[in-house]
Amino acid sequence: MSSPLIIALDLEINEVLKLLKKINPSDCQVKIGNQLFTSEGPDIIKRIQDYGFKVFLDLKYHDIPNTVYSAVSSALNLNVWMLNVHSLGGKEMLKAAYKTVENSSTKPLLIGVTVLTSLEDKDIKQIGLQKSTREQVLLLAQLCQNERLDGVVCSPKELSFLRESLDKDFVLVTPGIRSIKSKKDDQLRTSTALEAVNNGADYIVIGREITNHKNPNEKIHQILKEFQ
Ligand code: C5P
Repeated sequence: MSSPLIIALDLEINEVLKLLKKINPSDCQVKIGNQLFTSEGPDIIKRIQDYGFKVFLDLKYHDIPNTVYSAVSSALNLNVWMLNVHSLGGKEMLKAAYKTVENSSTKPLLIGVTVLTSLEDKDIKQIGLQKSTREQVLLLAQLCQNERLDGVVCSPKELSFLRESLDKDFVLVTPGIRSIKSKKDDQLRTSTALEAVNNGADYIVIGREITNHKNPNEKIHQILKEFQ
């Protein structure tokens, strides 16, 4: 079985290349988000794949269905392992994304973002969403499942009830992982890696706790050991 660990490469290119030489593709996948993609462009994906890593393209597409269809089609040419759209883009947008992936030969995992882990109840009220974070996440996750996406991104706090409410093979990806609960940075709905996996996460995304560590490989092994 592949490792549940996905390392968020929210770094400058030189730091990314230094990091990739120190870590092992059999221990983790990597995630390319807005920072690295915007500074380096799509060529960065191939460079990273050449080190042996599977790539999760985390650009959270959120646009009209036709634009998302085309954006996902372009992403498919990059041979990514996983990619995501933002489920707030609505049912037709999710359908468009699914249609593109379904027709592709590579068939990466298509994941919907629910509610960012940096938001909590007061923040989602502020943008006019009246449900609690929990209800909102469930509604969006069910929408993604109905539209045949492979899974969703949610916070560790929603894992247990999503696991109970959704199909067993529906993939749950969770960022917001902190080994010390008090150290949250800008993440609000957090848990430890072990709690997340025990509560049903298929994949956990960890950025700064690994990339800022003095020995990232040691930190990765420390986390993987917790799961044994
Ligand atoms: O450094 P840290 O572990 O907080 O990084 C978390 C990563 O997960 C970041 O790359 C962030 O963009 C991403 N992410 C998130 N919340 C989501 C989706 C993705 O924090 N809902």
